[in-house]
Amino acid sequence: MKIFLGLPVLAVAAYFLASSAPEAPTGFDNKTNGLVDDATHAVDQTKFDEVEQISDGLGPLYNAQSCRECHQNPTSGGAAQGGELRVGHRGPGGKFENPEIPINHGSEIIKGRSLVNDRAICPSGAFPAAEIQERVPDSEHIHTFRVSLNLSGDGFVEAMTDRTFVDLAKAQCDKSHHKICGQVLYVPVVEAPGQTAVGRFGWKDQHASLLSFSGDAYLNEMGITNRLQPDEVTNICNTASEPNDTPGSDGLADVDHFARFVRATKAPPRDAHLAGTPKARQGGELFTKIGCAECHVETLTTASSGTKVNGGALTISDAMANKQFHPYGDFLLHDVGTGDGIVQSMTEHYGKKMYSITWKGLSVPEFEKTANKIRTAPLWGVRLRPRLMHDGASLTFSDAIVRHHGEAAHVTQKFERLKSSEKDALFEFLRSL
Ligand code: HEC
Ligand code: HEC
Repeated sequence: MKIFLGLPVLAVAAYFLASSAPEAPTGFDNKTNGLVDDATHAVDQTKFDEVEQISDGLGPLYNAQSCRECHQNPTSGGAAQGGELRVGHRGPGGKFENPEIPINHGSEIIKGRSLVNDRAICPSGAFPAAEIQERVPDSEHIHTFRVSLNLSGDGFVEAMTDRTFVDLAKAQCDKSHHKICGQVLYVPVVEAPGQTAVGRFGWKDQHASLLSFSGDAYLNEMGITNRLQPDEVTNICNTASEPNDTPGSDGLADVDHFARFVRATKAPPRDAHLAGTPKARQGGELFTKIGCAECHVETLTTASSGTKVNGGALTISDAMANKQFHPYGDFLLHDVGTGDGIVQSMTEHYGKKMYSITWKGLSVPEFEKTANKIRTAPLWGVRLRPRLMHDGASLTFSDAIVRHHGEAAHVTQKFERLKSSEKDALFEFLRSL
C-alpha cells in the first residue's frame, strides 16, 4: 500500500487510463477487427491467400508462392512452420557482414542481404542452363533459421506511438536497476522516404510499418517486385514486367491489400477454458512475480484517434484507437543469450535505393548493437506454436525458458528455483495464451 501511495500521481493516473481503455477485439474467425467491413476484409484475405505464378512475377529467387503458406495457423494471418535461412560472416573488426552468394556458375554474386532463398524458378524449360539456386558458401560461418511469426493483432502494435516504446524501455531499465534494458531501434518507413519510426515487427524489429513489411516480404519471400521494393534480387531468367505488383481497378496494389488485411485482423484470443482455471491463474501470478512480465508485458494501449504514426504515413482511426491488448511482449530488442550474430541488412529491408535518401535519426551503430539481440517473442497465441524461439529449436516451454540467459539470467534463476507444482502452473498459464 505504502509503495502504491508513493508513486507519482501522474504514473497512477496513467495506470488507470491504460487499464480503462476498451479491449481490442480477439478471435480466430476471419472477421475484421472493425478497421474495415467484413466484405473488404474478405477481399484483402483473398490477396493474402493468393498463389502467385511465374507469370505474376514469382521469383527468380523465392521461398513460397503465397503469404498464407507461412502465415496460416490456425487462420490466415497466424504463424506456420515455414521458416527461413539467414547467413553471413564476420569481417574486419569482428563486425557482421552480409554473405556473398555466387549463382549461375559464378556469373552473378548476390550481395547485400542475409536471407538465403530456398527456391528458384530456373533451371526450367525456358532457361535450361540458368543454375540460380542459392547455396551457402564455406565463407559464411554465421547462420540461423528464423521461424515465421504471427501477424494477427499486429495492427494494434502498429497503432502505438514511438514514445510508448521509448518510455517502456526506460521504465523497464529503471525498475530492474539496469539489468533489463530493451533497445529501441529507429528504422526507415519505406513508404515515407526520409522518415523513421521505432521498429516493432520481425525478430530483429526491422520494420515499424506493416506496409513496409508487406513490400519487403513480397520481394524477399516471393520475389514479387512492388512500388516499395522495385528491384529484383537477380534478373537471370526473369521475364515478368516490373514492378510485378501494380494497382488494380480499386487503385490498390497487392501490398496495400496485405497491409490492410493484417491491420484488420483480430488479436489472438486466450484458450477460453484454460484461461479461467485456478492452475493457469496461479501460473499467471508467478509469471509476473518472478519477472517474466518485465519483457513479456501483458497489456499495451494504442494511441488516440487521429494520431499519426509511421513517420506521418498512417493516421490511427477510431477502430484502432485507445484499445488495450495483451501481447505478452514489449517489442523491444534484448540480449537473452540466444543472439544469432546477424545485423539485419538495410538494403534487403529498405530497398537498394535507401542509401540515396537521408533518413531522420537512422544510426548504423545502433543497428550494429542488435547483432546478438532478439525482439521479445510476443506470447499471445504461443499455445499454437510447436517450435519455439527465433530458431524454432526449443520444443517445450521448459526448454525455451532455460535458454534465457543474459538480460533474463536472474529471472531464469528464479524460474529454476520454483517448486515443480509451480513450474507446472506456469506452463499451464503459457498453454492458455
Ligand atoms: C517463406 C515463408 C514466408 C512467406 C511466404 C511470408 N512470410 Fe512473413 N514472415 C516469415 C518469417 C520467417 C518472418 C520472421 C522474419 C524475421 O524477422 O526474420 C515473417 C514475419 C512477417 C511479419 C512481421 C510480424 C511480426 O509481428 O513481427 C509480417 C508483417 C509479415 N511476415 C508479412 C508477410 C506478408 C504480407 C507476406 C506475403 C507478401 C509474407 N509475410 C510472406 C515468413 C514468411
Ligand atoms: C529480458 C527479457 C525477457 C525475460 C525477463 C523473459 N523473456 Fe522470454 N523471451 C525473451 C526474448 C528476447 C525471447 C526470444 C528469444 C529467441 O527467440 O532467441 C523470448 C522467448 C520466450 C519464449 C518463446 C516464445 C516463442 O514464441 O517462441 C517463451 C515461451 C518465453 N520467452 C517465456 C518466458 C518466461 C516464462 C519467462 C520468465 C521465466 C521469460 N520468458 C522471461 C525475452 C525475455
